[in-house]
Amino acid sequence: MTATGALQISNLVMVRGTKAVVHAIELHIPAAKVTALMGANGAGKTSTVMGIAGVIAPAFGEVWLDGVDLAGLDTEDIRRRGIATVPEGHQVLRDMSVRENLAVAGGDLRRGELAAALERTLALFPELKDRLGQRAGDLSGGQQQMVALAQAMVVRPKFLVIDELSFGLAPLIVARLVPVIRSIAASGIGVLLIEQFTHLALALADNAVVMSRGRVSYDGDPAKLRADPDILHRAYFPVNDREAVGLGNPRTPHGHTRR
Ligand SMILES: Nc1ncnc2c1ncn2[C@@H]1O[C@H](COP(=O)(O)OP(=O)(O)OP(=O)(O)O)[C@@H](O)[C@H]1O
Ligand SMILES: [Mg+2]
Repeated sequence: MTATGALQISNLVMVRGTKAVVHAIELHIPAAKVTALMGANGAGKTSTVMGIAGVIAPAFGEVWLDGVDLAGLDTEDIRRRGIATVPEGHQVLRDMSVRENLAVAGGDLRRGELAAALERTLALFPELKDRLGQRAGDLSGGQQQMVALAQAMVVRPKFLVIDELSFGLAPLIVARLVPVIRSIAASGIGVLLIEQFTHLALALADNAVVMSRGRVSYDGDPAKLRADPDILHRAYFPVNDREAVGLGNPRTPHGHTRR
C-alpha cells in the first residue's frame, strides 16, 4: 500500500538492544509539507528516523516511497532514492571546508550537475556563500547546522528528515532556519522535522505527530495542539508514568534536558 507522492511508514517496529522501542507505528508524510514529530526523551523519534534512513534496519514494517518499500535497504540506497537525513547534532566533516562538505554530499553528481546543485543549494543558505573555503569545524553551531542541511539538499531529495533542528542552538539562530525549512517544503520536498522546541515545531508544521513511549499518541492539526496544550503535556508526562515524572530526566514541552 502506498500513497503517491508521500512517504508512508507502515507498521514500523524498531528494536534497540533487545527492546522494542517503536511499536508498529504508522506515519504519513506528505510531499511539500512540514510534518513535525514530537515527544519526550526516549519516545522513539530518533529510532524512527534511523529506521526510515536505514541506519538500523526495521525489525518489522514498511517504508513506502513511490511504490517501493525501502525498509531494510542500506543508507546510501535510501538516500539515492530520495530520502535525505540530517542526523542529530549537525555532523559535518569538521576538518574539511564547507565546499568540500557539499562536494562529498554531492559525490554521485556529475561535474556539471554539481556546480548547478551547489548554486541551487547555496541560494537557500546565502550565509554559507562567503564561507565556502572555511573549515567547517570553525563555523558557529548555527552555520554548521546550515552545512548539514545543505549537504542533505545538494542531492535534491524528495524528503528531508531532520533529527533535532535546534540541537545545541540558541533560539535566535533557530529562528533563522525557520524560513529555510518553509521554502524547502514550498519547493515540493516533504519535511519530517523533529524539534525539541514544540512552539516552534507547531508554528512551522502543517501536520503534527506526537510519539509517547514508542507509539503515536497524536496525529493531526498542529493548531489543535496549540489551542489545547494539555494534549501535548499529557503525551510528555503520561499519568502514572514513574519514569516520565521522576526518574527519566524528562523534557518539558518548551525545551528539554539532555541526558
Ligand atoms: N543504542 C541504544 N541501545 C539500546 N537502547 C537504546 C539505544 N538508543 C536508544 N535506546 C532506547 O530506545 C528508546 C528510544 O530512544 P530514541 O533515541 O529513539 O528516542 P528519542 O525520542 O529520539 O529521544 P530524545 O528526545 O532523547 O532524542 C529509549 O528507551 C532509549 O533508551
Ligand atoms: Mg532523539
